[in-house]
Amino acid sequence: MLRLAVLVSGGGTNLQAILDAIANGRITGARVVKVISNSRKAYALERAAKSGISSECVTRKDYPVPEEFDRALLAAIQSSEADLVVLAGCLVVIPQIIVDAYPNRIINIHPALIPSFCGQGYYGLKVHEKVLERGVRVTGATVHFVDGGTDTGPIILQKAVEVKDGDTPEILQRRVMEEAEWKILPQAIDLIANGRVAVCDGKVTIGS
Ligand code: GRF
Repeated sequence: MLRLAVLVSGGGTNLQAILDAIANGRITGARVVKVISNSRKAYALERAAKSGISSECVTRKDYPVPEEFDRALLAAIQSSEADLVVLAGCLVVIPQIIVDAYPNRIINIHPALIPSFCGQGYYGLKVHEKVLERGVRVTGATVHFVDGGTDTGPIILQKAVEVKDGDTPEILQRRVMEEAEWKILPQAIDLIANGRVAVCDGKVTIGS
């Protein structure tokens, strides 16, 4: 049984998609053992509580020295004895000490088709604002392994979503979540939990 530690920052709709997929069997062989938030106000913590999952807050406000925050976040993950760390709407740039401790064992959902609209400053609604500003006709979401960069790790799954005339950033964000994020993040976890994902030379292969 793959133990999942899910890192969150906000509403937790991606966490909820994981919990729902485990409940309805679309994810097998995995369970969420801990939710870790960098914000005490994150509704994701309510979602964890409703599902009886232990949670912990590790916020920068409590650690004036950045390295102490990094170590506290690592300790919170390690204490869960997680096999896989899932960044689900997590706005924390994962410190190198955590990336080093969990090589190819941290995955992230990004609300665009990497390498488009990603990297420094591209998160949350800002991504969709830039998509609309550029006028692309297709966007989507990407699940990838986390390496030392920002949105640069090996890509596991992607799903395209149509941009429609009249879309606002909020409407587009919702469509990308509903049609892509909430599908491919659980799907990626199920593939990993069932031993179907391998990484070789920075490229992912998905076995049958
Ligand atoms: C989503 O667009 C997600 O892709 C981004 O943050 C937004 C909210 O995620 N990282 P959630 O509802 O907190 O899972």
